[in-house]
Amino acid sequence: MELQTTRRDLLKKATLAGAIGLLPGLALADGKKGKSTRKRLVRIAHFTDAHVNSTGAGSKWLGKALEHVNSIADAPSTILFGGDMVFDGTMVSKDQMAAQWVEFHATLRNNNSIPVKYCLGNHDIWGWGSTQVDPREPEYGKQWARDTLQMDHTHYSYDESGWHFIVLDSISKFRHGYIGKLGSEQLDWLDRDLAAHADKPTFIMSHIPLLSACTTFFGNSEVDGNKWHVPGTLMHIDARHTKDLFLKHPNVKLCVSGHIHMVDRVDYNGVSYLCDGAVSGNWWKGNFQETPPGYSLIDLYDDGTWKRDYIKYGWTAEG
Ligand SMILES: [Fe+2]
Repeated sequence: MELQTTRRDLLKKATLAGAIGLLPGLALADGKKGKSTRKRLVRIAHFTDAHVNSTGAGSKWLGKALEHVNSIADAPSTILFGGDMVFDGTMVSKDQMAAQWVEFHATLRNNNSIPVKYCLGNHDIWGWGSTQVDPREPEYGKQWARDTLQMDHTHYSYDESGWHFIVLDSISKFRHGYIGKLGSEQLDWLDRDLAAHADKPTFIMSHIPLLSACTTFFGNSEVDGNKWHVPGTLMHIDARHTKDLFLKHPNVKLCVSGHIHMVDRVDYNGVSYLCDGAVSGNWWKGNFQETPPGYSLIDLYDDGTWKRDYIKYGWTAEG
């Protein structure tokens, strides 16, 4: 009942806004709307969950994916790396962590000439899950990734060609692991940043989804107490707060994430939430559930609409 009321209210507001020529945050933006008049302002690629490991599979196939995107005639202006650049840093020694970053950087150096930006994933963090790593190590936690990826801040924003881009830091420490959470300081920053760029359609990237449908397909709901179970490690535990912020700031059009290794799309309150599949697929063993290894190309238009294509870059079991 409550959902029906909310939807009816939204539709009423949309009709009203349409009548006065405004659709603030209520248009379900996608590739099918306004095709004839809209103008593309920017094209980006979203590479997430590359999980470059030390066996060679990661660098080989990330290299192929980079080769693929670099060969597109109408190439993206930027590759946004959505996190989990390396296979795993949480449980490994200093030498193992170093080897993964060396492999990741070499793969980019050898296969890519498109500018890149980074978002931190849970696997990019060193030592949080290990009792062997001393927390007093200067590179402990997020510091190693920040140093090697030259990130002044783990959340930041910038403008490109009429769109505003926000990169969030999903990863909050929780016991000996992590949880998807921005926390009050980052939420305050996000509120201020959205207010300061209210004149631009806004794209948000996080590693962990702010809102996602495919997170429900982890576990087995029928045997797990007949409940859908979505832990805060799979989807932001503070999504109610971001949902409220986006109602306050209807310039937010698109929220893109990774982490789940599955492609989905959720439209809620005029914001589209896209989860993308992983460059690594099932950690270099093929499809993860139904989603093949891939990356996405996202076009952003002058009317606040967008278009996503999920690209299979040619991963094969045979190599
Ligand atoms: Fe991942």
